[in-house]
Formats: sequence, structure tokens, C-alpha cells
Amino acid sequence: MEFAEVLGIRRSIRYFDPERPVEREKIQKILEAMRIASCAMNAQWLRAIVVYRDDVPPETMEALKLPVAGVIQELAPVHIYCCADLSVIERDRGARPKELIDVGALNPSHGWSHRFVDEFVWPQILEPLSKSPAYPIAVAFDVGGAATQGLLMAFDEGLGACWTAYNVEVAREAFGIPDGWLPLHVMNVGYPLESREAGGQRPRQPLEELYFEGRVGQPFRRDEAVVRELEEANMLQASAPLPGRKEEVRELSRKLGLPE
Ligand SMILES: Cc1cc2nc3c(=O)[nH]c(=O)nc-3n(C[C@H](O)[C@H](O)[C@H](O)COP(=O)(O)O)c2cc1C
Repeated sequence: MEFAEVLGIRRSIRYFDPERPVEREKIQKILEAMRIASCAMNAQWLRAIVVYRDDVPPETMEALKLPVAGVIQELAPVHIYCCADLSVIERDRGARPKELIDVGALNPSHGWSHRFVDEFVWPQILEPLSKSPAYPIAVAFDVGGAATQGLLMAFDEGLGACWTAYNVEVAREAFGIPDGWLPLHVMNVGYPLESREAGGQRPRQPLEELYFEGRVGQPFRRDEAVVRELEEANMLQASAPLPGRKEEVRELSRKLGLPE
């Protein structure tokens, strides 16, 4: 699929074929996509634990489920728990940016050297960041970007996926998540039982209300020619609800034994 179309066809899938397993190679591709994401100072905070639903004892599964997520977790055969390893900065102490210097990604042309890392980047940026109350927020931004690459790969592989929350303390215990890791969200993955359009692209606020040009309050005005180009590339698709969505949901619910 073309990149723009992958962006366009992605939407949170909540009806999975509970019996159809996901090929391990596709799960690996999701993880490979996460791994090559850009991240601040190349620190690589994201950690992911691939859990197969059917391997989770029923009582653990019950305890993991939250009201906003339970049905999704029951239906999706694979759950990828994404966490941030908050200990990486303290452990690596500038080793990752030095690696970037050694391979010619960060160069003296832009002020980079091992000495610059030791005398400025570590003491003035990395160490204070790792001790700041805002550290987990900064890291979550980073992890979200990497995890999203994996999410898009899932759709490129013909899978569906939906992020959900879960009971973090239960997950820590069940999957051996260390204290120094911050559990974030879980990517529930499987083959969609719903149509590829899944009722259409979900509502979003107008672009001009979200994004600005120059300063806040000056909307970034949409060029309609660009909108048409993105529609042709299938990135911007028909908005939900598509005709027949209610009937589709009713049929899916009946098939899966869910409330209507
Ligand atoms: C970090 C994150 C957490 C989410 N958690 C849940 C959740 O617990 N349950 C759920 O049904 N959807 C969850 N979603 C999906 C959003 O509700 C979704 O973005 C929304 O349904 C519409 O957008 P989409 O269909 O284009 O993804 C989550 C999404 C993100 C990014």
C-alpha cells in the first residue's frame, strides 16, 4: 500500500476475528517498524512485550481488562504492551548520541563531538531531563512516535489494531515489567472482522482549529487543491458514518455474541 493510503485506512479497529491468529512474521514487522523510529538523542525508550491472548490465564485476563477496553482485548489475539524504560538515560550516560557521532549522523559541522556530549549534552540536557518531573512526559512523546510506526505497519500488513488502556499493576506482575519501566498503552492486534472502511474515517476537529501558522490564533488555512490530492491518494477518505454502518455493527455484535 502507498504510505498515504496506509495513513488513510488506519482507524481503531474494535471487531477482530477472535479465532484467526496473527502470523509471527507480521508481529516482527510491527516491532521492526517501531525500532527504526526517530527518537531524542537516540535514547530508545520504547520497550514492548508481545502477549498472545490465549496464553494469558483467564483470571489474569479478567484482572487486566478495563471497562473501556475489555471487549477489544478479548477479541484481539495479540496484545503488544508498550512501555518506556525510564532508566536508559542514567544507564547510557550519553553513549547513544556518541554512537550517532561515530557513524557520521551527528557531526562537527553542527557542533557535535564526544567532548560536547560529555561537557554539555550530558550535564546540561540529559542528566537534568532524567531528573525532571517532566521526564516521563517527554519520553511518552518519543515512545508514542515509535509505537505509531508499528501501528501503521500493522495496517500495511492487512491487520487491524486499537490502542487501549489496561490495569497497569496487573500487567507489571503478569508480564514481568520492571519498576523502572513506565507502562503506557497496549496495541491490540488481529485480523479485522469489520469491513476495511470500518464505517469511515472518524470525526476530527477542523484543521484550522488545531494547527496554526506563525502564531497561535492564526489558523493554518487548508488549500482545497491539497485536500483533493490527498483524497485521490486515499489518505483523506469518506467520513464516518458510512451508510450501512449501524447494520454492520449489529451483524458483528450478533456474530460475536456481544450486546446490541
Ligand atoms: C493512546 C491511546 C489510547 C487509547 N485507548 C483506548 C481505549 O482504552 N479504548 C478504546 O476503545 N479506544 C482507545 N483509543 C482509540 C481512540 O479512542 C481513537 O483514536 C478514536 O476511536 C478515533 O480515532 P481512530 O479510529 O481514527 O483511531 C486509544 C487511542 C490512543 C491513541
